[in-house]
Amino acid sequence: MRQIAERANVSIGTVSHVINETAAVRPKLRERVLEAIRSMGYQPSALAQGLRKNRTNMLGMVIPDITNPFFPSVVRGVEDVAYKRSFRLILCNTDNDPLKEASYVSELRTYRIAGLLIIPAGSTDIADHLRAYASASVPVVCIDRVPTGWKGDAVLVANAQGAYEATRYLIQMGHKRLAVIAGPLGLTNAAERLKGFTRALNEAGIAIEPEFVQESKFDAVSGHQAALYLLRMLPRPTAIFACNDLIAYGVLQAARELGLRCPEDLSIAGFDSLEFAKFTDPSLTSVYQPGYQLGATATRLLLQRVDGLRSAPKKVLLPTDLKKRNSVAPPSGVVPAAIEWTGKKKATGGVASARRKQQF
Ligand code: RIB
Repeated sequence: MRQIAERANVSIGTVSHVINETAAVRPKLRERVLEAIRSMGYQPSALAQGLRKNRTNMLGMVIPDITNPFFPSVVRGVEDVAYKRSFRLILCNTDNDPLKEASYVSELRTYRIAGLLIIPAGSTDIADHLRAYASASVPVVCIDRVPTGWKGDAVLVANAQGAYEATRYLIQMGHKRLAVIAGPLGLTNAAERLKGFTRALNEAGIAIEPEFVQESKFDAVSGHQAALYLLRMLPRPTAIFACNDLIAYGVLQAARELGLRCPEDLSIAGFDSLEFAKFTDPSLTSVYQPGYQLGATATRLLLQRVDGLRSAPKKVLLPTDLKKRNSVAPPSGVVPAAIEWTGKKKATGGVASARRKQQF
């Protein structure tokens, strides 16, 4: 700054005001300082500025699993909004490990981040860490799931409603032996999806077979194992609701290995409707959730807090949308209620007519 001041023939204070925008500087002087900065190739230290203000222009973002294609779409939404407001992102991946999560959350605060976005890991107890953020007035917004007892800001999707609609669709297609692979039930979104599934069965007067409710991880390996277990039962389920798409990919694979055809012998519905859902064989019926919008909405809310918004905590619920594709059809021999219910012409050939109703 001294060198710039000498080159521009102004005081160090003037240079500092131009760089930090702390006071209005006469346009002529300002231009001289900017010219000196350009010619000397000076780059202000974000670190030093952060130390001075006790806050940087960095946002922390903690996600459970970067290899799951759902989470990058959330991150894109976050990044786009943050970038436009000149905030930058520090991304941390917890591998669903609560200890790794706790250490990231507490470390990020020492970097003087302006705010934190977090998709909590399973069975997580980070309440104390997040309280420390509140006492330091650093805003936090939870995305997609919340830790137990969380009372702060959150942006989620309508998990129970989405699961309810998918299950109701399976029931309307004529399924009565429905199983669910629920994901980790310690997670609020998995628990909500199970509630939606249960509600649809209750409303239809279908008894819930306890063995047909399988807890799992949110990944394909776990979905595959749970599906092998379910599909070896006698009588086996005719439809499986998988509480995320990775689980559904595991179910598809298990069905193939057991020589079962999807959808003729087994209908499968997922949750997420990832890009790949259109390209599986058969394409996957799935509940779309707007990952990008989750991230973008949460970041807008976080930045409002950073700017000083002090209203009561907000819980934003984004809607889901059931995408009907080829992995769901009536069980063999059943004329689906759904075809009458949609007001279209009656089914002539069960599976084939249902397959025409796909959506992309
Ligand atoms: O696929 C990952 C799942 O875990 C998604 O359904 C998302 O909601 C997340 O919590």
